[in-house]
Amino acid sequence: MKKLHLLLTVMLIAPAIVFAEPKKDRPDTDIEKAMGKMAGAYRKLRRQVTDPAENAASLELVVTIKAGATEARKYTPLKAADLPEPDRAAFVENFRGKLDEFLGTAGRLEDALKAGNNEEAAGLVAELGKIQKADHKEFRRPEKDDKM
Ligand code: HEM
Repeated sequence: MKKLHLLLTVMLIAPAIVFAEPKKDRPDTDIEKAMGKMAGAYRKLRRQVTDPAENAASLELVVTIKAGATEARKYTPLKAADLPEPDRAAFVENFRGKLDEFLGTAGRLEDALKAGNNEEAAGLVAELGKIQKADHKEFRRPEKDDKM
């Protein structure tokens, strides 16, 4: 009876252990570390960008986002290794170019906040989100459990 109990317990618990895999079985890349910092700032910014009382704090968040993008730009996305060798250099160049475009939009957002133009700033925050979506599609390696 005890044995049966044990067997049943193992049968119940085993699948939970098998399926509770970590999201990734590797440490974060340098790009992921930089993007992680951007993500926190971007989330906050999205919530407060329309509030003129928060403009000084919002400007700080834009500085964090720009710093993250500038840092990420120094590295090569994981996906580059999945491409044929001759295509890699162009891929990395394209990645940097897209981050420059992103940084340009973040610069316009900074100007709008400095000018107290919150409506324009909100539009630019949405624009950054669209760029993020498109660029993730292009530059991130598709991985299991990817939700971004
Ligand atoms: C608001 C803007 C953005 C946010 C909040 C953001 C956030 C993130 C997050 C949270 C990750 C995953 C981190 C992890 O899994 O630990 C990530 C990965 C990545 N992001 Fe972004 N991202 C943004 C914009 C961009 C842009 C503009 C590009 C490219 C031009 C980009 C390229 C990548 C790449 C390539 C990875 C995979 C990392 C690697 O291959 O090492 N992201 N991003």
